[in-house]
Amino acid sequence: MKIDILTLFPNSFSYLDESILKRARQNGIIEINIIDIRSFSKDKHKKCDDYPFGGGAGMLMSVQPIYDAVKSVQTKNCKIIMPSPSGQLFNSEIATKLSKEEHIIFICGHYEGIDQRVNEIFDVQEISIGDYVLSGGELASMVIIDALARQIEGVISRESLEEESFVDGLEYPQYTRPQDFLGYKVPDVLVSGNHKEVAKWRKEQAGKKTKATRPDLIKTKER
Ligand code: ADE
Repeated sequence: MKIDILTLFPNSFSYLDESILKRARQNGIIEINIIDIRSFSKDKHKKCDDYPFGGGAGMLMSVQPIYDAVKSVQTKNCKIIMPSPSGQLFNSEIATKLSKEEHIIFICGHYEGIDQRVNEIFDVQEISIGDYVLSGGELASMVIIDALARQIEGVISRESLEEESFVDGLEYPQYTRPQDFLGYKVPDVLVSGNHKEVAKWRKEQAGKKTKATRPDLIKTKER
């Protein structure tokens, strides 16, 4: 998969060069390019924002630099995502759908938003990562990229993916060595060697956790 991130803050993305995403990039499974929108500005001072028509607080990102930045990377089958608090709420299903795309372009907004004509010109999908307002789309893009990358074949093991939260409710608690830390012990069943009992315990624990913290997930599954 190819991912192009259009941003006014190209230094914000070091997380994409760590851990699982780093490996996926090194293995050629994902190609990520960070593109500085400012370099496309035709303004002599490379300005990329302006006051909103009709008045209002703050500045808006101008259409021209974004238009030219998108045009520079756009392909026939690309999907254009604009992280935005007014978008569709992101979840695991959307991540799975996006993981099947060939090419995704992220347009990161900043300031008070983006000139609406970007949405009128391009077929843009707005996605929100939660009901709160961030200062820009950079963090949200990274959240979406991390979540979708995990669903691409070869990025993490199939087994890990199947065990992850939201596939079957939330995840059960896990423990690693030492078996006793300051008197806090690993539950006996996990060291019993009885795989059937381990599976049963995990299912129960996952059920309890889901019921306690996200009962809405159970209702969704039963519907
Ligand atoms: N940009 C600002 N806030 C956001 C949010 N909640 N989700 C996605 N993009 C955003």
